[in-house]
Amino acid sequence: MARGGSARIAPGDPAPAATIVIFGGAGDLARRLLAPALVNLTRDRLVGDDLDVLVVSHGESSDEAVRERLAEHLDGDDADAAKAWKTLSARIRYFQADFGDAAAFGRLAETLPKDGNIVFYLACAPQFFSPVAENLAGAKLLAEDGFFRRLVIEKPFGHDLESARALNALLLGHMDEAQIYRIDHFLGKETVQNIMTTRFGNAFFEAVWNARYVDHVQITAAETVDVGTRGKFYDATGALRDMVPNHLFQLLAMIGMEPPNSFDEEAVRNEKAKLLDAVRVPTRAEAKRDAVRGRYAKGEAGDAVVKDYAGSADVAKDSRTETYIALKLLVDTWRWAGVPFYLRTGKALAARDTEIVIRFKPIPLVLFRDAPVEKIPPNQLVIQIQPDEGIALDFVAKAPGPVVDTAPVRMDFRYADNFELGHRTGYETLLYDVLIGDQSLFQRADTVERGWAIVQPILDLWAKGGEPEDYPAGSQGPAGADALMERDGRQWHAVG
Ligand code: BG6
Repeated sequence: MARGGSARIAPGDPAPAATIVIFGGAGDLARRLLAPALVNLTRDRLVGDDLDVLVVSHGESSDEAVRERLAEHLDGDDADAAKAWKTLSARIRYFQADFGDAAAFGRLAETLPKDGNIVFYLACAPQFFSPVAENLAGAKLLAEDGFFRRLVIEKPFGHDLESARALNALLLGHMDEAQIYRIDHFLGKETVQNIMTTRFGNAFFEAVWNARYVDHVQITAAETVDVGTRGKFYDATGALRDMVPNHLFQLLAMIGMEPPNSFDEEAVRNEKAKLLDAVRVPTRAEAKRDAVRGRYAKGEAGDAVVKDYAGSADVAKDSRTETYIALKLLVDTWRWAGVPFYLRTGKALAARDTEIVIRFKPIPLVLFRDAPVEKIPPNQLVIQIQPDEGIALDFVAKAPGPVVDTAPVRMDFRYADNFELGHRTGYETLLYDVLIGDQSLFQRADTVERGWAIVQPILDLWAKGGEPEDYPAGSQGPAGADALMERDGRQWHAVG
């Protein structure tokens, strides 16, 4: 797909020479995802030996110690990866700085090339986003003078609408929107990017992609993992903030948006923004009726025995944080008038399953009056984001035999059967796009704020009191989520 727009380098060409400065570069994200992604880009020759990496953190360390830490998640048995790592690691350096210390940023400016491109990657805890941005600006590191200065910022992007607005205002006070790359790692997933190709590269999907044929849409991100060691972050965040205004709304935008005029970054981002603008902000009464919160209680999820959420490390004993949310939203456009979008996400569920189900309307049963309903279920398209990436279409066929008897059948496309998936972390495209200057897969200020605006009534309502409904770990979620569907005469597609 041609993504480009204002990109200065054509997609597929090696990225330009640059220094990537990673704040929090000794942390989990840098080790698990960024270093392996840079290795993959190196071996695909999309970055060359003109890429330098500077890891900034406040602890005592050294070039060698940082290189060792970053190598922890590399595949030691893969000779190509080892070769690429050798090239890359020689160019990784360490710089010690307290993120709130303006003087340290002055020293940082002296070590960085004046006549070179620089990417500042905020892979640090969110409380450091503002101080780092301010100190970079104070040290004049964000001014572009013939070379680019870009800032990559990870989620969480704010904690609610007000804080997201404040963060945007702060960043935009120091740099242009075109310099800011807000990462939503779901957009790095091949299958998420494929939603646009599926919809707009095929005649027949688009023809039925509207309220005339679609009954409703389900967007699910189910996980088997529990809160694990992330109690401190998660208990202050919860499933709604962690997953909905960002990841799930990106999927919603991809499914619901109108076709852009081109794959130009602004054309695509404008259409996504328009779709999110059309999502109806729930009233207080709708928030109460259409959003369900759950919390896992002990059970077995995946291969693990899970204890009650409230018994997890770094979680308050009297925590009211939700580990599950289901909600119904309406999109006020001609295309989607009256078609509900049901979203749900949760931890410690029956299976890891990120999928989008487009459920079509039932056919008029006039020809099949005598057939039991279960023999002619409505068509559905299942877009499997992970695991086992693919797309399946459920439809009805005639069962062989002398009488007209029907049976549900499935057409199934699996990525793994058709393509070599290779070694991917999901961050390769995102990092490469930052380097070539393509913002298509990054969140713009307006969409981030719109995402928060849509969920704000639910956050406000839940902050006032009430408890999440318990569900056993390893189950499909709380009973209230089923009731939300049943009230509309519908059912969830089973997780797993
Ligand atoms: C992160 C959330 O953004 O996404 C996590 O903070 C969640 O809580 C993760 O587990 C899910 O991403 P993926 O790629 O594993 O589906």
